[in-house]
Amino acid sequence: MTKFLFFSGKGGVGKTSLSSSAAVMLAQRGEKTLLVTTDPASNLGDVFHQSVGLLATPVVGVDNLYIQEIDPVESLRLYKERALAPLRELFPEDVVRSIEEKMSGPCTEEIATFDQFIACMHQPDYDYVIFDTAPTGHTLRLLELPGSWSAHIEMSAQGTGQTCIGGVEALTASKKQYDQAVQALRDGNRTQFVFVTRPDRIAIQEMMRSSKELQKLNIDNQMAIVNGVIPEEDRDHPYAARRWAVQSKYLAQVQAVFTGRIVEIPLYPDDVVGLDNISEVGRDLAHVLAV
Ligand SMILES: Nc1ncnc2c1ncn2[C@@H]1O[C@H](COP(=O)(O)OP(=O)(O)O)[C@@H](O)[C@H]1O
Ligand SMILES: [Mg+2]
Repeated sequence: MTKFLFFSGKGGVGKTSLSSSAAVMLAQRGEKTLLVTTDPASNLGDVFHQSVGLLATPVVGVDNLYIQEIDPVESLRLYKERALAPLRELFPEDVVRSIEEKMSGPCTEEIATFDQFIACMHQPDYDYVIFDTAPTGHTLRLLELPGSWSAHIEMSAQGTGQTCIGGVEALTASKKQYDQAVQALRDGNRTQFVFVTRPDRIAIQEMMRSSKELQKLNIDNQMAIVNGVIPEEDRDHPYAARRWAVQSKYLAQVQAVFTGRIVEIPLYPDDVVGLDNISEVGRDLAHVLAV
């Protein structure tokens, strides 16, 4: 069964760097791995020096590794097209256009994005699917959806039979998939939520906010990576010593408030880009991630 890793946290903390490193590490170990970004501001392409698209593409130079980007605008377009295609054969153009207009609300957009997200979770070909997720609020919104979506489908089925994207018949087929995805998300043997933070106040606050949100959704399979910790051997340098004094205070704070497992990743001299650097970080991650 496919396993899932979700990397989330505030912008700039290292989600893309660490999720890429974890993906390379697993792929090099022989696991067929898909790295998906749902962050509209992602720089996944820069990290691997190649373009990322809506479909999974192999990473040049790393066997077993594929990357993919979920783009909300494009997801919506594809989703609408799938729903409208059969109608085009049955109804005149102006009727189809008016249906299309009704499908342009936020409800359709959320469902379209989530539909893509679920599709990414249903890929039995892969041993691991790793998500590099958008800054937290957005991701959690997606995770809250299945519950309300299921309820929405059930209510619609009992009522008019209509949902915001059309007849309910088309949807109930995938309710099972949605429910399976939620089940996988809650299963600690299959899914691990990795909160990335820096040893600073704002990043920790944001991590704790989303950690608690996940707990409310009964998702307890969480761990934290404190990224960018000054390495022990460098802490007596006067500049680093002052940085470390601040960092150690925040490390203690993470220990005090975060209930899951906490690990540290050092501050590297270089940015985490290019295969050499990513592989090095991957080796450090292999020691701390329980995968
Ligand atoms: N441990 C680290 N040491 C040094 N630089 C890092 C480390 N982790 C991340 N970076 C750098 O920090 C910047 C932000 O990281 P990124 O992974 O893009 O964050 P996010 O995806 O959370 O926005 C990038 O330039 C990245 O190379
Ligand atoms: Mg990123």
